[in-house]
Amino acid sequence: MILNTELEYKGNLFPSKIVSYEKNLNVLSFTTANGVILEVTVRRDSVLRFRYTTTGIFDNDFSYAITKYASRGYNHLEVTEDDSNYIITTSKLICKISKLDLRTSMFDANDNSLICEDELGFHWEESYELGGDIVKMSKTAQPGESYYGLGDKPVDNNLKGKRFENWVTDSYAYGRDTDPIYKTIPFYTALHNKKSYGIFFDNTFRSFFDFCNERRNITSFWAQGGEMNYYFIYGPEMSDVVVNYTDLTGKPHEMPALWALGYHQCKWSYYPESNVKEITAKFRELQIPCDAIYLDIDYMEGFRCFTWSKEYFPDPKRMVKELADDGFKTIVIIDPGIKIDMEYSVFKEGLEKDYFCKRADGPYMKGKVWPGECYFPDFTNPEVRDWWSNLFKELVEDIGVKGVWNDMNEPAVMDVPGKTFPDDVRHDYDGNQCSHKKAHNVYGMQMARATYQGLKKFSYPKRPFVITRAAYSGTQRYTSSWTGDNIATWDHLTIANLQAQRMCMSGFSFVGSDIGGFAEQPNGELYARWIQLGIFHPFCRTHSSGDHGDQEPWAFGTTITDVVRKFIELRYQLLPYLYTAFWRYAEEGVPILKSLVLYDQHDPQTHYRNDEFIFGEKILACPITGPNQNGRRMYFPVGKWYNFWTDEIIEGGTEQWVNADLDSMPIFVKAGAIIPKYPIQQYVGEKTIDELSLDVYYTEGKETSQVYEDATDGYDYIKGRYSLRDFNLSGKKNELIIQQHKSGKFTTTYKTFKVSLHGLPFKISKVEVDNVIIPFEDLKLNGSNTLRLTKEFTELHIIG
Ligand code: GLC
Repeated sequence: MILNTELEYKGNLFPSKIVSYEKNLNVLSFTTANGVILEVTVRRDSVLRFRYTTTGIFDNDFSYAITKYASRGYNHLEVTEDDSNYIITTSKLICKISKLDLRTSMFDANDNSLICEDELGFHWEESYELGGDIVKMSKTAQPGESYYGLGDKPVDNNLKGKRFENWVTDSYAYGRDTDPIYKTIPFYTALHNKKSYGIFFDNTFRSFFDFCNERRNITSFWAQGGEMNYYFIYGPEMSDVVVNYTDLTGKPHEMPALWALGYHQCKWSYYPESNVKEITAKFRELQIPCDAIYLDIDYMEGFRCFTWSKEYFPDPKRMVKELADDGFKTIVIIDPGIKIDMEYSVFKEGLEKDYFCKRADGPYMKGKVWPGECYFPDFTNPEVRDWWSNLFKELVEDIGVKGVWNDMNEPAVMDVPGKTFPDDVRHDYDGNQCSHKKAHNVYGMQMARATYQGLKKFSYPKRPFVITRAAYSGTQRYTSSWTGDNIATWDHLTIANLQAQRMCMSGFSFVGSDIGGFAEQPNGELYARWIQLGIFHPFCRTHSSGDHGDQEPWAFGTTITDVVRKFIELRYQLLPYLYTAFWRYAEEGVPILKSLVLYDQHDPQTHYRNDEFIFGEKILACPITGPNQNGRRMYFPVGKWYNFWTDEIIEGGTEQWVNADLDSMPIFVKAGAIIPKYPIQQYVGEKTIDELSLDVYYTEGKETSQVYEDATDGYDYIKGRYSLRDFNLSGKKNELIIQQHKSGKFTTTYKTFKVSLHGLPFKISKVEVDNVIIPFEDLKLNGSNTLRLTKEFTELHIIG
């Protein structure tokens, strides 16, 4: 492997002096004497794209990552020059490009402070081994700089001092520091001097990032082919960097159905039908909420996708219906490998239509996966994606399957070095024909996209649900994801926490881990602690390989079952809160989980924190990640926090001990928050919601909260049939005012709120609802600070 950052300049080639400059609206081109062209595109005031070619012409500009819905437009653009630089100025950024060697440096347009500067800048090396160029970029690390992001890397939050590779890889039983694993998200955010920027290197070849690992003050990234093509995204708030990256690579195309945010149960494998029914019946018997049940590869006939085993599942349509009647959505696995079998219609059709990937010298790409020898559809061909999407008609429309699980789509190939296709395999790449070197990292993404198209079509008018293992930047537009084949160890519980936070920081919020661990078996304590973390992950599913024993909530004795039930119930109570956070993510790109550094970059204490995170906007959670613990120390971000269980108030900005026996975990609510809750249901839609609980956490000062609701499924919300409640809370020594502003055309089923006031520092003497005094006794419920009132109020005034 060629490492690019060796101090030696040997072998590296560099741009020389700029000889011409051209401006075409927002696209600026700089050509050097040795024929390098740098094209800078000003997409937004804070988003600049840098693209280099060494051959004098650019390839067709095509990206799977960038969404056509990305925002464009800027307030200000001016290009000037001085003796040494061209200077591009927007309302947020100043970018200087050296006339001597094309090196760039970025400054904050407000205060002229240096944000980021090239060290060697763009350079390249001809690769005799791989053909083409290795394209490289190196930047000088700023004093105290920290780095975050990069998708699913199983390492601590702050990436400083580490080097990474991006090559989507099937990684059974990976561990801490295993690299690369399932996903390629070549995007990081950097932070120094309280300012943050991001870099998205949109190059799908095998790529590398070095964060001051090889040289302590240098950050670099390079790829084994393709273009040096990256986006510079300025904050200065890290949350804005992440929002802008998500805008660029896309937000989920629709909200998930509310049930998809419920609890899911999976195992490799539940079969035959009687076993599936036993499991689902047990959930209902033990009153443990659950919305989805998964069928792993054994539901098929000899692992042939789109078939059913006649022996194990003689009448899938009936079974799926019976499960649905009991509130369970059936989700089935679909892998990319299509068994070579002339009697198998999917294979025959794929062959006839020439849809399978081929080697450079002609023959089909043959590889072994679960079904044995397989061919693999070229999902980078739009015609193949179309065909694939139509294969879901029977599964979804006729049989009633509600979601599809795409696995092994790295693509994984068994018993070969590298565990995937050889580099020479050809791909259509949406008309930009190329080898697997370029298509590998997007193969799984395009499979998930094709699956999504099918689910969307055949689930209509309901919303689609897809989950994928492999992903490239932008995959979040189509599907949810899980973190692959982890292990039932305490360290993996910590890793799951890191990965979920990191994915959220990388624009991909709909994620979760195999709760309890996929390989091996957890003991009850580990399982319970993992469930506690899992209920705070946007995707919440227990899954296990099944060959080390059972992993259902009741598999570890009644004490554990009770803990697990308690936390899954909490998840269901918090559904309107989570749904609101998801809506903010789908609408604005705001990540559902926020690592502390993302939440408060101005507090240097947060820069190296790993365990604590913010769930949604207002809840601070921190898992217990070791055995025999009855609490832990954790850091509280600046502000006031209520202990969720005891209402004790903690002053943030400090590290403190928190008690958490096995049936508890550290959960805190930001002072001033209003947390919406639904009653416990065994599955979404079991009950008509006839009251919304609002847990109000008093603060002296102001705070805003939101509650988003809609029909929980379908597309009416896009036409304005949603209900958005904006609450403004304002607390004073002797009074509390809550104003409500409602928008959207959806009418919720409930008519009243049950308002529980936490931490009120005074005794209520009177209550005014929309300026009418109402005796407190008329509104008061059992608890002394709980009242029931109409959901229509616009101002609630509680006076001491
Ligand atoms: C892979 C998946 C796992 C699945 C198994 C069998 O290992 O990651 O989730 O259960 O294949 O399909």
